[in-house]
Amino acid sequence: MAIIQTKERLHIEYLLNPKADTDDGRDVIMGLSQTPKTLPFWYFYDQKGSQLFEQICTLPEYYPTRTETVILQAYAKEIGRITGACELVELGSGSSTKTRLLLDAYQELGYPLRYVPIDVSSSILEASAQQLLIDYPELKVNGLVATYQLGLNQLTPKILPGIMIFFLGSSLGNFTQEKSDRFFAQITTALTSGDYFLLGIDLQKSPAILAAAYNDSQGITAAFNLNLLAHLNWRFRGNFDLSLFEHQAKYNQIAGQIEMYLAAKKSHSVHLEKLDFTVNFEAGETILTEISRKFNLQQMEQYLETKGLKVRQLFTDSQQWFALLLCELI
Ligand code: AVJ
Repeated sequence: MAIIQTKERLHIEYLLNPKADTDDGRDVIMGLSQTPKTLPFWYFYDQKGSQLFEQICTLPEYYPTRTETVILQAYAKEIGRITGACELVELGSGSSTKTRLLLDAYQELGYPLRYVPIDVSSSILEASAQQLLIDYPELKVNGLVATYQLGLNQLTPKILPGIMIFFLGSSLGNFTQEKSDRFFAQITTALTSGDYFLLGIDLQKSPAILAAAYNDSQGITAAFNLNLLAHLNWRFRGNFDLSLFEHQAKYNQIAGQIEMYLAAKKSHSVHLEKLDFTVNFEAGETILTEISRKFNLQQMEQYLETKGLKVRQLFTDSQQWFALLLCELI
C-alpha cells in the first residue's frame, strides 16, 4: 500500500482558541440583553453542531444541499474554465463535501490545487482537510480556524495568480442586510480586481416548502438549534437546561426569511459563570437564534454589482430553487 504524505501539504492556523480567556463572549451578553433576545448564529457550530448540520444536509425536507450539489455537478468545470487556475478559499467549509466537485473539476483541468478552508469548528476542519489530502495527492491545504471576519483578514499572500472565494449553502442568508453590506466590504477588500467570488443562494419559493425544511420530521433541526445552548454551557460554563426550551422555525413572508427561535417553556434564569452574567426568561419568551433569508435572483445580481462584483455566469436548477452566481471583482 502506498503511503501518502500529508504533513507537509497541510498547514492550519488557529485564530479561535476555545480555552483562552480571549473568548470574551461579549456578543452573547449583548444578544441576551436585548429585547427580543438574540444569539449569534456561529455558536451553532461546535463539534456536535457541525455533525448535526451534516445530518440536516441529508434530510428529505432540506432541499438546499442536494440542489446546490446538482448544480455544482453540472457546472463545476465551466466555473473552472472561467476562473482559470486559482486558489480556492471557502468560507464555512464544514465537511468540504461540495468542495470536492470543484477540486475534481480543477484537477481535470490540470490546475494546481490549493485550498484554503475557513471554519469555526477545528475538529471538522482538521478531519476534512486530512481526508482531502489523502484523496487529492497534489493538493495543498492552508486552513484557518476562524470566523469569516477573522479569516478574511488573515488571507496570506497568494501563490497562484488569482483566488476564488466561495460561499456555498446560502449561508449569506444568515446575515441581515446591514451585516451583508459589511461582509461584502470585507470580501472585496480580500479580493484583487479580476479575482472571483462564487455565491450559493437559496431562492424564494412556496412558504410550505421553506417551513418544512426547518421543521424536519426527525427533529434534527430542533436538536441543532438546542445544541447552541449546550455549546454556550461548555464554552462559558453556563447552566442552560435544554429541556426548558423548545425549537420553533417559521417563514416570515414579509421579510422573506426563515426565523428560528428557542422559546422558554417556563419562567427561569440562567447563569454563565465565565461571563459573570445572569439572564432571566419569562414563560414563552424567545431567543432569535438564526435568520435564513431567501433571495430573488435579479435583486441579488443588482446588489452584487453595487459592491463591484460583476456576475459573469449564473447557474440554477430546473426548478429554480437554488442558484450559484459566479462573480468577478471589477
Ligand atoms: C448553513 C446557514 C445555510 O440557513 O439553511 C439549516 C443553517 N439552520 N437548518 C440554513 C440551517 C437550520 C443553514 N445555513
